[in-house]
Amino acid sequence: MSDKFKKIYDESINNPEKFWTDASNDIFWFKKPTKILNKSSPPFYKWFEDGVTNTCYNALDIHIDRGNGKRTALIYDSPITGDKSNFTYEELKVKVSIFAGALKAQGVIKGDRVIIYMPMIPEAVIAMLACARIGAIHSVVFGGFASNELASRIDDSKAKILVTASCGFEPGRTVEYKPLVDEAVKLAKHKIDKMILFQRKGHEVKLNPSKEVSWEEVVSNAKEIDCVEMNSNEFAYILYTSGTTGTPKGIVRDIGGHIVALKWTMKNIYNIDEGDIWWSASDIGWIVGHSYIVYAPLFKGCTTVLFEGKPVGTPDAGAFWKIISDYKVKSLFTAPTAFRAIKKEDPDGKFFSKYNLSKFESLFLAGERADPDTIKWAENLLKVPVIDHWWQTETSWAISSNCTGIEMMKTKYGSACKAVPGYDVKIIKSDHSLAKPNEMGDIVVKLPLPPGTFPTLWNADKRYKENYMSNYEGYYQTYDAGHIDEDGYIWIMSRTDDIINVAGHRLSTGAIEEVLSEHQSVAECAVLGIADKLKGQLPIGLIVLKAGVDKNNETITKECIKMVRDKIGPVAAFKIAIVIKRLPKTRSGKILRGTIRKIADNIEYKIPPTIDDPAILDEIKEDLIKNNILKSV
Ligand code: COA
Ligand code: AMP
Repeated sequence: MSDKFKKIYDESINNPEKFWTDASNDIFWFKKPTKILNKSSPPFYKWFEDGVTNTCYNALDIHIDRGNGKRTALIYDSPITGDKSNFTYEELKVKVSIFAGALKAQGVIKGDRVIIYMPMIPEAVIAMLACARIGAIHSVVFGGFASNELASRIDDSKAKILVTASCGFEPGRTVEYKPLVDEAVKLAKHKIDKMILFQRKGHEVKLNPSKEVSWEEVVSNAKEIDCVEMNSNEFAYILYTSGTTGTPKGIVRDIGGHIVALKWTMKNIYNIDEGDIWWSASDIGWIVGHSYIVYAPLFKGCTTVLFEGKPVGTPDAGAFWKIISDYKVKSLFTAPTAFRAIKKEDPDGKFFSKYNLSKFESLFLAGERADPDTIKWAENLLKVPVIDHWWQTETSWAISSNCTGIEMMKTKYGSACKAVPGYDVKIIKSDHSLAKPNEMGDIVVKLPLPPGTFPTLWNADKRYKENYMSNYEGYYQTYDAGHIDEDGYIWIMSRTDDIINVAGHRLSTGAIEEVLSEHQSVAECAVLGIADKLKGQLPIGLIVLKAGVDKNNETITKECIKMVRDKIGPVAAFKIAIVIKRLPKTRSGKILRGTIRKIADNIEYKIPPTIDDPAILDEIKEDLIKNNILKSV
């Protein structure tokens, strides 16, 4: 570890209050905090508790106050529709202030929840910032989730308003949002007051005037309004994520710490300055989209790119290079799967050679482990540093990374580099002792977590404490496992719960199992993630039928696949289900998912000593071969 990084990192761990007070001086406060960290009620910590600020003020108004209103804040580019637009900070502020006025006119007040279920269009960003302006708590739901998931979020958040659009576009198909939203509203026990719907050109839908109103109508009657003063510990947003059970967890973000931490990361982790052009190719429905399409780049006064397209197929594998070249992007942040998709279509980089990427300086990858092959391929092509960094919805910013704005560190392929200032990362072994360098164990972070992380779960303090903070007292359990090497590099190897990562999307196998179990012919099932060259992992379902079922297996598996798509959504990418005779279990009845996964991935496995009947493993292997699953990985 060189001196510069080490000094800053050590200071953040040894004197966090001083460290984050300094960082907090970089943001706008209506009232500066004097109480920096309240540690009186662990594991519930409060950063900047007497500070008063506003998220939207820090994203927009502050830049106008400082004379940068004419700078481009947002570039929108949709290779699917051909639409492109730019908004300066002044223009975006007007749009946001008007939509904030519209929300207010619909009765939304500070603390109310607003669900945003929208495609990647500027109105989605405007809706998020408008909520922040009036102190409403937004909860953005990814468009790839089905009505059932949307309904569970409406119920849990008890949202007052739902903001949506008439449709989204996926390559080759239009996603009609209105029927999905109608179904969700019907399914939800909690009743929203109003739906505001943005009509996309050529895809207008009919609205029910008693409960639904168009975006155009609400803004035409609305007046611009100013930012409200918010206490630092009030909530900016809820983002639901997969948990260890099928019930999603509402990760909440408090206001002051979020602004301070995210603004700090732009320079220190990403080496991005005010005015730089930054692109995060994710979706606003995910944490990467929240933090790095919307909030961090705007807090920093950058230009952020909103891209409604895919790395391939919109129209070709040159889509990313075109955006970087057209807008002179300095750095890109995306998931490794996007690069694997490009590599698969264009392994020799033929599309790449058509574009000028002279302004491009670095590529950041996260969301899943970046495999060394993909990193090396990207390095060879782009001739810029390619940085794998590790983080979670819970933290909202990187736990480990090469902090390129402090000091560029050497790459170790397969490692997500070192703990970022603010995070005291440790490895704990199964006997609860701290691991030595290179020893495997659970990855934990010593409490308190830095600002910008999750202070609790929405309406679920107990779940927060029990789920994350209880297994290892004084530590946050990340549910990732791995090791730290002798140089302090962190190696993330696997999840320790039922979460799998499919194309950088976080999914709970437990949630998929819950859906499969509802099929009337299914006696029991196991869902696991098997290795996939493109998406990292893919879910497969192994189904055991009830005795006496006389339906054809293929009909049952098709029905199961449809049920998952209908209940969770296309994002589950659940396309493989097979019927098997029995599931391998321990003598106490626990399904041996880990062993099945190893068989499916064709890697060496030991017969667990606790197994009830080892012969089942051979049966499963035969079934996997028969169904082409072993061959396909
Ligand atoms: N709304 C509706 N449906 C969506 C959606 C959205 N916003 N996003 C994805 N889907 C659908 C897809 O159309 C697909 O449906 P299909 O089964 O009918 O084909 C399904 O959900 C699975 O999507 P995905 O896993 O993304 O697979 P894909 O084959 O469509 O695309 C990649 C593969 C690699 C191109 C794509 O995953 C990608 O661009 N990833 C980039 C990384 C990323 O955004 N990660 C997120 C966190 S950083
Ligand atoms: P999400 O909350 O959707 O961002 O998913 C977080 C999870 O994704 C982490 O707990 C990890 O399992 C995985 N993840 C994210 N980034 C990385 C990375 N760089 N390397 C390995 N796994 C990662």
